[in-house]
Amino acid sequence: PKRTTPAQIQAMKGTRPIVSLTAYTTPVARLLDPHCDLLLVGDSLGMVLYGMETTVGVTLEMMIAHGQGVMRGAQKACVIVDLPFGSYQESKEQAFRNAARILKETGCNGVKLEGGEEMAETVAFLTNRGVPVFGHIGLMPQLINTTGGYRSLGRSDKEADKIRQDAKAIAEAGAFAIVVEGTVEPLAREITQSIAVPTIGIGASAACDGQILVSDDMLGLFNDFKPRFVKHFAELAPTISKAAEAYAEEVKARTFPGPEHTFQVKK
Ligand code: KIV
Ligand code: NA
Repeated sequence: PKRTTPAQIQAMKGTRPIVSLTAYTTPVARLLDPHCDLLLVGDSLGMVLYGMETTVGVTLEMMIAHGQGVMRGAQKACVIVDLPFGSYQESKEQAFRNAARILKETGCNGVKLEGGEEMAETVAFLTNRGVPVFGHIGLMPQLINTTGGYRSLGRSDKEADKIRQDAKAIAEAGAFAIVVEGTVEPLAREITQSIAVPTIGIGASAACDGQILVSDDMLGLFNDFKPRFVKHFAELAPTISKAAEAYAEEVKARTFPGPEHTFQVKK
């Protein structure tokens, strides 16, 4: 099966909703791949897999290692890897250097970076030099230390204008699609109707051209907190707890391992 390209994702706008999820490991990528148009190796892995409080501490090496893992598991979905905080904001040259490392070392289809108007020049620089870019506007978790919180955006005229301009700038700079995070429905709808590339929403209503969720959130595996926009499509946390409990009981009772799990020597 051939892998979906960023150009094909872009061309899906106006045809049917684009299905995407995050993936961080080979086995999970293998399970999600048949159902997803796009798999994102998100820097949310810092919080979800490593217990970090924010995504700010995630390194390029972590993103490359997990990108390689996901590429080994996914066959048909377009695979995009997040550029982590500090790997692209300094200059467009820094962004290209690190994006090129991600493409070369993982074989993925493109990179994602957070930012609006201020990142437009970088997005154009990368796309003109062979790096497909997935944009990310609205709530930008890498800016937590200056913006100060996770809350939905776009209620005030000033906030809405800024996000509108960010969407236009990143779309015109050549992004093949744009994540719109934590944005009120009327604004998400307006942006979706006004730009030529697909919007992929997270906490941005069904008006977007596609949806993305953090897979561990929607699987009910990461339950530290549950924002309004998350829906649990499964409850894996209690399943894992019960399995660990049953294992512990059987080990203590010496009922596991049983004869069928044991290597014997024939007489
Ligand atoms: O890191 C991530 O998982 C993301 C998505 C939630 C869009 O950026
Ligand atoms: Na991210």
